Amino acid sequence: MMISSKVADRLNLQIKYEYYSYWLYQQMVFVLETMGYTVFAKWFTAQAAEEQTHALKIAKYLLDQGYEVKLMALEEPPANWKTVEEIVQAALDHEIEVTKNISECVDYAIEAKDHATNNFLKWFVDEQVEEVATAKELLSLVQMAKTPDQILLLENRIMELRAPQGGE
Ligand SMILES: [Fe+2]
Ligand SMILES: [Fe+2]
Repeated sequence: MMISSKVADRLNLQIKYEYYSYWLYQQMVFVLETMGYTVFAKWFTAQAAEEQTHALKIAKYLLDQGYEVKLMALEEPPANWKTVEEIVQAALDHEIEVTKNISECVDYAIEAKDHATNNFLKWFVDEQVEEVATAKELLSLVQMAKTPDQILLLENRIMELRAPQGGE
């Protein structure tokens, strides 16, 4: 059964949000590189790459359901963060926002009695729980570091936080 065009359009919009997440995290990478925090930059490089896989996952689903994928224009991400803490806080805020976006997609699927899409979105619902939890954990670590030196020391630990998550 084909999905409704209302659901398909909402998923198409979600592709934009996922690419915006990529765009935002990539901007964070460039700012972190400028600040000299190469390990944090690596963290957000991995984060950005994940967001691209999210966009592609949705695109593939739409194609499988017989819909065309239409990419949309992305807004400029901010780039005026002054500290690592500001960046990590912005990442957490962003993931909370994306969690709302995903919930909205689920609402659309439920309203359309679209079980296939609802099922498909479960992975994203779970993923958002992870994304928010990890961002919160990273933020509390960064908040414990009081000086730039301590943040540099922290860099040794943060990739461990990422490691058990695996590739996706
Ligand atoms: Fe995502
Ligand atoms: Fe994310």
